[in-house]
Amino acid sequence: MRLLVCGGAGFIGSNFVRQRLARGDDEIVVLDKLTYAGRRENLQDVADDPRFRFVHGAIEDAAAVAAAIEGAEAVVNFAAETHVDRSIAAPDAFVQTHALGTYVLLEAARERRIRYLQVSTDEVYGSIAHGSFTESSPLEPSSPYSATKAGADLLVASYQRTYGLEAVICRGSNNYGPYQHPEKLIPLMILNALHGDPLPVYGDGANVRNWLFVEDFAAAVAFVLEHGGAGDTYNVGGPDECDNLTVVRRIIELTGADPSLIEFVTDRPGHDRRYSLSSDKIAALGWRAGTRFEEGLERTVAWYRDNAWWWEPVRSGAYRDYYERQYGRRLNDT
Ligand code: NAD
Ligand code: DAU
Repeated sequence: MRLLVCGGAGFIGSNFVRQRLARGDDEIVVLDKLTYAGRRENLQDVADDPRFRFVHGAIEDAAAVAAAIEGAEAVVNFAAETHVDRSIAAPDAFVQTHALGTYVLLEAARERRIRYLQVSTDEVYGSIAHGSFTESSPLEPSSPYSATKAGADLLVASYQRTYGLEAVICRGSNNYGPYQHPEKLIPLMILNALHGDPLPVYGDGANVRNWLFVEDFAAAVAFVLEHGGAGDTYNVGGPDECDNLTVVRRIIELTGADPSLIEFVTDRPGHDRRYSLSSDKIAALGWRAGTRFEEGLERTVAWYRDNAWWWEPVRSGAYRDYYERQYGRRLNDT
């Protein structure tokens, strides 16, 4: 297939592009704004592949989209601002990218009558104490991140119903694995543990996430692109749930760090207690998440240990200012 992959220089998008080019005959154009989270290095394995082209631009820029979409048979949209804590501190870029950006992409896909896949998140459903969210669960997002992602999903659904756009939505649970920005829980804890830095656990550490290895989610997005019904939404949950404190303790074991590095810090406002997705709908089509959390976490720790070239420039750049703003006072107060 000839694909336009938006946000393909980020964590999940770059895993998706690498996987598609390794397994198939796709031609892929990546359109990416290269925010703090997007990096050309994430795609360096495929940079010289003649089937791959990179376009630097924003999804809310109609001219950039028009240049990148030429000849595409489908659009896969990973492009987003993705960190909940940053959405609490400064929601504007989240509104811009998720609302306006998604609208511009939908218009471009509608005009050309091509298939559209929106990559979304379990966070649109909010928090669930017992059981698991299905695709028909109500949307009750808690943060500016999840609210704007929910808004984008509703816009996608409206284009399918109103204009007959061939659109599908794929909602994933918490991803982890190689190439994830160190602002997120698992890489942050791995890198802090390797450096002997404090491990800042929000609240009581009992929040539960439904962990999904990134290569499994990338494969699920490809599966939905191929098998998903127009107008349908598919949840993609990981095989295991785990609370944050257990995740951090396992990272301490895998890195050999000192358990006294754990520091309980002020909680995230509006912090969702538990996420859990039912993947029955996509499973009925034949999809299974292969990687158990224990195996995926070991592979992830090994990847960060072996790839300092990738994270050293991130940790020493603007991330330090972000880290100081996000954690400086919290850690001093404990
Ligand atoms: P990421 O932050 O690592 O990457 C996002 C990418 O989008 C970056 O390359 C960035 O430069 C690009 N981008 C941001 N704004 C843009 C814009 N306006 N125009 C063009 N490009 C832009 O994110 P990720 O973790 O890879 O997430 C990818 C998608 O998957 C997002 O839509 C996210 O909501 C969704 N998702 C993420 C997870 C997770 O656990 N990480 C789980 C479920 C769903
Ligand atoms: O569920 C899917 C979502 O998962 C995606 O849509 C988001 O893009 C992605 O960022 C992720 O959101 P979370 O908020 O769940 O991920 P995060 O890594 O920020 O936090 C995971 C849990 O760890 C959460 O309960 C908050 C906690 N946490 C996080 C950080 C960064 C800490 O205790 N300490 C921390 O320093």
